[in-house]
Amino acid sequence: MKVRKAIIPAAGYGTRSLPITKVVPKEMFPINGRPAIDYIIEEAISSGIEEILIIVSRNKNMIMDYFDRSLELETFLERNNKQHLIKSITVPDIHIQFVRQPTAKGLGDAIRLGKPFVNDEPFAVMLPDDLFLDEQPVIGQLITAYQEVQSNVIGVQQVPENQLKNYGVIKEMHLKDQLFEVLDLIEKPQSAPPSDLAVTGRYVLDPTIFTFLEQLKPGSGGEIQLTDALKDMLQLKKCFAQNLSGTRYDIGNPDDYYNLLLYMYKKFGHDSP
Ligand code: UTP
Repeated sequence: MKVRKAIIPAAGYGTRSLPITKVVPKEMFPINGRPAIDYIIEEAISSGIEEILIIVSRNKNMIMDYFDRSLELETFLERNNKQHLIKSITVPDIHIQFVRQPTAKGLGDAIRLGKPFVNDEPFAVMLPDDLFLDEQPVIGQLITAYQEVQSNVIGVQQVPENQLKNYGVIKEMHLKDQLFEVLDLIEKPQSAPPSDLAVTGRYVLDPTIFTFLEQLKPGSGGEIQLTDALKDMLQLKKCFAQNLSGTRYDIGNPDDYYNLLLYMYKKFGHDSP
């Protein structure tokens, strides 16, 4: 079945980026004049996604406003001879809907709110704070892999050994090229990581995952963890991992955000891409 839908969870508190995230969602951090989440929507569209659900929370109305048409601003630009700017505020040509997560109980809890939207189809999950600004859209790489294996595919990347303790890490068996079978998933291994392949913010999931998400109890950090559901599902269905090409920037990490801004400035100067 074609992968047509994507869930973008954007309801977290962004505690690593406080105090600014008290009022400005991390997903709206500017990158060359556009918010981070706009690049995620672009990645989804160029990978063939047709419908998007964004999970928001009470203080994230700015995200909904950004993807809504502003007739008032369009009229103003037209009346003031600034028509050339209208293109920059045109909303993306894709169906976007929103649902609120009442409490940030974890990524797994956010995803399970998407069950009625997904409606028994395979779907993509794209974390909007993980940016891959690459020629080849990374979620497209996972969709291609899903079409081949017809089961959960996690996007992974090699991470230096001293940083693996901050990630979910897979125990793997190499299948071919950049594709692996996941034998186990270890959340934030404090010692002896099973590989150097860390889970990134891109997944393509089989709808069966909801059965496992619904049974979950809070895990690491008291949160409902998506990795726990993926681990439970290993008993029923195989899970795969695709080693993603491209540089990853975690915009919740100040060094990564700075490096991303620098990369974009060097590439595009003052012009918005
Ligand atoms: P993160 O853990 O990276 O984001 O979750 P966070 O919790 O907002 O930030 P820190 O770690 O406290 O700094 C990855 C993505 O999942 C969303 C976040 O908004 C982020 O985009 N998320 C996380 C939810 O939608 N709901 C949650 O309960 C937790």
